[in-house]
Amino acid sequence: MSDTTGYPDLDALLPRLDAVPALSADALEAEHTAILGRKSGALTAALKSLATLPVEERKRYGAAVNQLKARFETAFAARAAALAEERRRREAAGVDRTMPGRRRWVGAEHPVTRVVDEIVGIFRELGFAVATGPEVETEWFNFLALNFPPDHPAMDMHDTLYLDAPPAEGEPGGKLLLRTHTSPVQIRTLLASPPPVRVVIPGLVYRNDAMDASHLPAFSQIEGLAVDEGISFVDLKATLNHFAYRFFSPGTRTRFRPSFFPFTEPSAEMDVECQLCHGSGCPACKSTGWMEILGCGMVHPAVLENCNLDSEKYTGWAFGMGPHRIALLRFGVPDIRLLLGGDMRFLEAVGRPGGMGEEGKDG
Ligand code: DAH
Repeated sequence: MSDTTGYPDLDALLPRLDAVPALSADALEAEHTAILGRKSGALTAALKSLATLPVEERKRYGAAVNQLKARFETAFAARAAALAEERRRREAAGVDRTMPGRRRWVGAEHPVTRVVDEIVGIFRELGFAVATGPEVETEWFNFLALNFPPDHPAMDMHDTLYLDAPPAEGEPGGKLLLRTHTSPVQIRTLLASPPPVRVVIPGLVYRNDAMDASHLPAFSQIEGLAVDEGISFVDLKATLNHFAYRFFSPGTRTRFRPSFFPFTEPSAEMDVECQLCHGSGCPACKSTGWMEILGCGMVHPAVLENCNLDSEKYTGWAFGMGPHRIALLRFGVPDIRLLLGGDMRFLEAVGRPGGMGEEGKDG
């Protein structure tokens, strides 16, 4: 042994060989480099030194180095395999690859927005343009131009908030108020563009109504207006029946009941057959088999004259409907307040195409 004094001491490496089965993955890699690394591994250095040993010593020492090298290689390989197996087991225990992925909540349009878009879309197909107007109106646009006589009781249903501010310069008159319906946009449209006019007017309106299952103080309306030469009630009925077929389902029965609005003459309310019982009578339609969806009529000659149109030459029809109420019918929702709440269970049910209430629709 004396001849190998000064060469790497193989016995000193034995404790490190014993320690290999307990090494972590990082420590294993470091130890592999320290023992077998091509540049500075302890056994690599021992092998390199063989050339300088006398022949006898070289054989003995060389055999010992190679034997130790083989033992290290086996130990390293065994530890690497054990670590890999450990990792595989840990992953298998933590991750179930057969579990379905977590579904993300995908946002959906609000049910009322969907109803408005669909209604507007049906009228666009018929050649109607979309018009809008301000939510803050003057008394003239909201009432007087629409032929509400001053202090007429019809205005009682249109109580609203008045603004403590003068109307804009040059706007026809009276106080400013939150509009109670979209009908004033009829006036704005007819003043802005001569007939032929065909528009639908979606928007929000305001009323001094206490909130309950069927009333909101702010709600949506869609107004329709067609003015031209030779337009009759037949056009009104045909167009609105077509709308009912498209929006509800083909063949949906409708009926027109006489009604009163200051800005139409004659006036009517249109009912569609109850979408829940299809006419046989149920609690939703109060056993009538019908549901009211809109008011309509032939544009009153006074309204045309207020818009500087010759009422002998032009005629027209108009309608107004409430998408919030129609959304209740479409989705089978029992309480209008649900449409304002943020209840995810409700929004998820109606937001899903084919969800709540939509199974009844085949048109
Ligand atoms: N503006 C009416 C309301 O809010 C609804 C209405 C009825 C509009 C008849 C019309 C119509 O255009 O012809 O009560």
